[in-house]
Amino acid sequence: MNQNEFARRRKRLMQMMGKSSVAILPAAPVLMRNRDAEHTYRQDSDFHYLTGFPEPEAVAVLIPKRKHAEYILFCRERDPEMETWHGRRAGLDGAMEEYGADDAFPITDIDDILPGLLENCERVFYAMGCNSGFDNQVNGWVNQLRDKARAGVHTPGEFVALDHLLHDMRLYKSRTEITAMRKAAKISAQAHIRAMQMTKPGMMEYEIEAEFQHHYKQNGCEHAYISIVGGGENGCILHYTENNAQLRDGDLLLIDAGAENDLYAADITRTFPVNGSFSPEQKALYQIVLDAQLAAIDKVKPGNHWNEPHEAAVKVITKGLMKLGLLKGNLRTLIKEQAYRTFYMHRTGHWLGMDVHDVGDYKVGDVWRELEPGMVLTVEPGLYIAPGTKVGKRAVAKKWQGIGIRIEDDVLVTKDGCDILSKDAPKTINDIETLMAKP
Ligand code: GLY
Ligand code: MN
Ligand code: MN
Repeated sequence: MNQNEFARRRKRLMQMMGKSSVAILPAAPVLMRNRDAEHTYRQDSDFHYLTGFPEPEAVAVLIPKRKHAEYILFCRERDPEMETWHGRRAGLDGAMEEYGADDAFPITDIDDILPGLLENCERVFYAMGCNSGFDNQVNGWVNQLRDKARAGVHTPGEFVALDHLLHDMRLYKSRTEITAMRKAAKISAQAHIRAMQMTKPGMMEYEIEAEFQHHYKQNGCEHAYISIVGGGENGCILHYTENNAQLRDGDLLLIDAGAENDLYAADITRTFPVNGSFSPEQKALYQIVLDAQLAAIDKVKPGNHWNEPHEAAVKVITKGLMKLGLLKGNLRTLIKEQAYRTFYMHRTGHWLGMDVHDVGDYKVGDVWRELEPGMVLTVEPGLYIAPGTKVGKRAVAKKWQGIGIRIEDDVLVTKDGCDILSKDAPKTINDIETLMAKP
C-alpha cells in the first residue's frame, strides 16, 4: 500500500486529536507457537493502519503540531548478525526513508526518551487493556513525570481511548482499502470455486482446506482466519476447525474461508453438496437461507440501520421454517420469541476490514448505526439442524438432521445501494450444481 495512504490517515487522526495530545501505539508482539518456534507474525491492525510498518518491537508516537517531529517511530536498529539469523530490518534510516517517520529512535532507548515526549501534554491517546505489559510501561512513563511535578513538569491529565477515533476511521474504507478488499474477496471466491470443482465423496475435509491455502499463497495472500471445512453435521458447529473428517456421499459441505490480502480480509461461506446434487431436504433448507441472504443484502443501502439486514433475514427464515413445519405458531410471535434461534443462533453479519470481525460501533448511543457509503459488512444467515435437535420437547424429523448451511458474502455500502465484493462465488442451487456437474 502506498505510503501516502498511511500519511493521510496519521494526518486525519492528528487533526481529530488536537494540540497538546500524544498517541502511543505498540506493534504486535511475536507470539510463540511452541518452545522457540514462532507463530507467523501478523502486525497489529491499528498499528499497521497508521504506519504500514511491518516489524515487531516497534512503537509509534504521534504528537500533533510538534515542531521537530510529529510522527516518531521507535524500532529495532540494523544489526547484520541478527539480520543474518532472523531477517531484514528497516532500521532507523528505513523507518524515516521508507516508512515516512519524521524521526526514529532505537526501541531499546524508549524508556529514556518517551517520558520527555509526554511532558507538557494534556492528553494521552492510548488503547488501554489490550496489551498488559505495554500498559505497565505507559503507566511507568507517566508516573516518572508525576515524580518530577515539583520540578514544574506538567503531567498529562487525561487518558483517552484511542479506539474511539481510530476505529471510527477504520469503519469507512478508502478507495485503496476497497481495492485491497476486492482482491481478497476475488482470490477467496476463486478458491471456493476450486473447492466446488474438486470435492468428491470420500475426500478428507483437510484436502479441501489445503486447496484454499494453496490458492491464497499462490496469489500472495494469507488466510484471514482458520478455514472452517465441515461436512454433514460438522457444518452445524459454527466454529468447526478440526477439518479432519471424511466427506460422505449425500452430505453437504460448509466452507467458511477467506483470504487476507495486504492485511485486509475476505470472509466467505459457501455450502454445497459433496456429490454435486442437493437432496430435496437440502434444497428446501438451502433455498430458505439463500432467500434470507438476498432479502438481507437488499437492505444494505445508505440510510438503513445496521439491524435491518438481520431483521429481514430472520423474517424469511422464520417463514421458511414454518412452511416446512419445523416451527409452528404465529409469525410475529415466533419472531418476537426468537423461536428461530434453535436453528439460526447467530447474527446476520459484522463489519469487515483488517480484522475479520472488524472494529467500529454497531450502535450510536442506544440506536442502531446507519449504513453509510464505504462501510463493508458481511451478510451471512444460516440454518443448522444438528442431530438430536428439538423444538421444545419435540425432536426434529430425522430427514432434516445433520444439515448445516450458511451463505456469507462481503458487501460494500455504496452511494446508492451496495456492491457484493464476493459475487464471483456461485451460490444459487442451479449455479452450484451446474459448476459441479462439469467434468
Ligand atoms: N468466519 C467468521 C465469521 O463468519 O464470522
Ligand atoms: Mn463472517
Ligand atoms: Mn465467515
